[in-house]
Amino acid sequence: MTVKNPLTPMEAEIIRVEEMTSIEKLFYLKLTDPQIIGEFHYNPGQFLEVSVPGVGEAPISICDAQREPGQLQLCIRKVGRVTNAIHRLKEGDRLWIRGPYGNGFPMKLMENHNLLLIAGGLGIAPLRSVLQHALLYRTNYGLITVMYGVRCYSMMLFREEFIRLFREGDKLNVKFLLAYEDESDTKCYQLACERSDRCMRGLVTRLIEAATITPDNTYAVICGPPVMYKFVVRELTQRGFTPTQIYMTMERRMKCGVGKCGHCITGSSNSIKYVCKDGPVFTYWDALKTKGLM
Ligand SMILES: Cc1cc2nc3c(=O)[nH]c(=O)nc-3n(C[C@H](O)[C@H](O)[C@H](O)COP(=O)(O)OP(=O)(O)OC[C@H]3O[C@@H](n4cnc5c(N)ncnc54)[C@H](O)[C@@H]3O)c2cc1C
Ligand code: FES
Repeated sequence: MTVKNPLTPMEAEIIRVEEMTSIEKLFYLKLTDPQIIGEFHYNPGQFLEVSVPGVGEAPISICDAQREPGQLQLCIRKVGRVTNAIHRLKEGDRLWIRGPYGNGFPMKLMENHNLLLIAGGLGIAPLRSVLQHALLYRTNYGLITVMYGVRCYSMMLFREEFIRLFREGDKLNVKFLLAYEDESDTKCYQLACERSDRCMRGLVTRLIEAATITPDNTYAVICGPPVMYKFVVRELTQRGFTPTQIYMTMERRMKCGVGKCGHCITGSSNSIKYVCKDGPVFTYWDALKTKGLM
């Protein structure tokens, strides 16, 4: 746990802001209290409650793997009150964070396995932390396959980073595949001309259909819009993935983030889950047992 009281917000300075798309920005943060910096540890898949004083709070996934003490990155889409207020902030401004919360991905369990990361849209944000962690501890993981579905080139997040992996990932034993929806998108079309086996038009499930995927020694990790899960899981189970080989991260309306307020409870008498505390990462097996989780 980062601080003695897990509900205590910590001040963070915005040290850099990158405009990634018309609605998403990448914020680089640094904690301002030197006493907390050494105690602040996070794992891929965990999230923070981010607040702007006088406006409110929103849960946001940490989208990088921890490298520098007290520093982290958040990819934020402006959709409402809090996220619009955060988008108005500049380098040098401050905001407040609580956390990290949630279970995160089982990076230890997944060691010595291949990773298949499947993301749609903003869902790539928490999966980027898994990817970065696996690249940081590269020898602990096998082949990493990333399947990323976007609407079009201009909506692609972490563009430079991912295009580099698309072109040069093989050197790191990483296969980066891209699916795009907009048929008039010339930039994605060029990528498809460059590597037709790595970039294709359609939904992210098209990439699964086209690739040779086996469940052998592999964990699949999914994040994307709610509608995506059902179709991706169907493709994976048809290829022999078991419910405990599939991990997914879930979003719910949250308030406290620590299992106290009940806002994020899902399920029924057989299985009840607090998405903030028991998740946000669940296996497909959890989803099968817990009504309304997926
Ligand atoms: C674990 C977790 C991780 C997340 N990670 C990220 C991330 O990395 N990046 C990111 O950008 N977002 C992330 N989100 C989503 C983000 O928390 C929400 O979009 C949040 O609502 C934004 O807050 P806001 O005040 O800006 O928007 P809000 O004012 O809450 O509005 C958000 C949207 O919800 C609608 N809405 C508002 N109130 C309700 C209601 N009561 N019921 C239903 N719909 C309503 C609004 O119309 C709007 O479309 C994450 C959420 C969770 C739970
Ligand atoms: S957000 Fe309060 S219990 Fe989960």
